Amino acid sequence: MKEINENKKAWSMLSKDHYEHYKKRLSDNKIHINENIINELGDIKGKSLLHLQCNTGADTISLARLGLNQAVGVDLSESNVFYANQLAKDFKMNHVSFIESDVLKLDEIHHEKYDIVFTSEGVLGWLPDLKKWAKVVRSMMKDDGYFYVYDSHPFFHLFDEDLLSLGETKLKYDYFNVKADEADEIGGYASDVKHAKNYWWNHSFSDIINALIEAGLEINYLHEFDTLFWQNGNMDEVKPYLFKYKHFNNQLPLSYSIKATVKR
Ligand SMILES: C[S@@+](CC[C@H](N)C(=O)[O-])C[C@H]1O[C@@H](n2cnc3c(N)ncnc32)[C@H](O)[C@@H]1O
Repeated sequence: MKEINENKKAWSMLSKDHYEHYKKRLSDNKIHINENIINELGDIKGKSLLHLQCNTGADTISLARLGLNQAVGVDLSESNVFYANQLAKDFKMNHVSFIESDVLKLDEIHHEKYDIVFTSEGVLGWLPDLKKWAKVVRSMMKDDGYFYVYDSHPFFHLFDEDLLSLGETKLKYDYFNVKADEADEIGGYASDVKHAKNYWWNHSFSDIINALIEAGLEINYLHEFDTLFWQNGNMDEVKPYLFKYKHFNNQLPLSYSIKATVKR
């Protein structure tokens, strides 16, 4: 698919910068994951975890530091996977490994099952087909395992992002997205913005939730947060890796999480 290939090229342009950025950050041996996620995951010691859309593996390594038995990251970009493996080697994380794959095709090449299937922070919008995605998620879960996603809120993605930063809410994108939005810049959260065509699909909440239900999962919860996980312009870092607009209090939902288990 043309859009996926363009996304792959675009993300690959950032791999080396991301590797260098996250290598520095992780060198303090701490866990660099925001508290919305940490609190909801709870105790994951001794578990196996599959991390979808893991980029260069920084969060996979942080999650492994929480005491996982095994962590496997998956990403579309060959160079992200190359640098993710390098990062695991740098920090001597022998129980962390990575697979290069389109998430939507992962079940064609990988058949293990995990206690936790995890994905977070800038993920679902890169996927054109959530029904297929949810089937892949289910196929990677043990029957007593769980799925967890933490991502940017579909409602937040309706507004002109530059104007939000100035305190204005002007609708720019469709909520019921039938076709991808095309952009010509990517990145900017861990390295400079690069010029590269890329495609993003804004999925409605009903599309996300119904895809999971149709794949045989039961929703344990849906939580909404007034904080975002990157600094989108004029925002304060209110907690490590969590940002809030200076001019909106709790008026806008900026991120959400869902936990789901296999329906019995
Ligand atoms: C914003 S980053 C997510 C970063 C993530 N929060 C982390 O752990 O660092 C989005 C990632 O999704 C990956 N990606 C995009 N489309 C994908 C697909 N179809 N299958 C697998 N990975 C994909 C990109 O290569 C990129 O690394």
